[in-house]
Amino acid sequence: MQQGTVRWSDLSLSQGMKLLPEGKGKDALRSNCMVCHGFQNVMASIPRNENGWRDRINYMRKAMWWQLPRFDDDKADGVVSYLSHMFGNDPTAPRSPADVPGYKDTVRSFSEEAMGIAYVEYDVSGSKGLALERYS
Ligand code: HEC
Repeated sequence: MQQGTVRWSDLSLSQGMKLLPEGKGKDALRSNCMVCHGFQNVMASIPRNENGWRDRINYMRKAMWWQLPRFDDDKADGVVSYLSHMFGNDPTAPRSPADVPGYKDTVRSFSEEAMGIAYVEYDVSGSKGLALERYS
């Protein structure tokens, strides 16, 4: 099997929090924005430039204001710059989490034995098959 490129949007939230580089804005992102959703679908899979991020963050601040009481302008600026760096078009950002040191340690793997799943097919045609009995 050929290995594809690992994308940021492929990660679990806990992998993301370990592998996303430290930087201004990361803490505010983690503690304010991850309450309702992760970063994978709404952030990592749609790259935006700085204006685009600011626009979406303003939208969240308006629509989700009750969950963002301590998310002030300073934190918003930090998150805008963090997201523009990571999920914008900054060539210095790690494209793939697999390029970040420590990536391998975050990947769960299972033994050969655990992966050895046996599938069995039963032919149930011509019988009542798996139809549920009525109990009444
Ligand atoms: C109270 C829950 C809540 C909080 C807190 C929250 N969001 Fe959201 N967010 C949502 C919901 C619900 C949607 C989907 C709404 C939609 O797509 O219109 C969403 C959608 C988004 C989107 C996609 C919008 C689009 O147009 O595709 C982005 C980007 C986003 N959130 C970023 C953030 C950031 C950054 C923060 C922190 C500042 C944040 N969110 C905090 C609930 C929340």
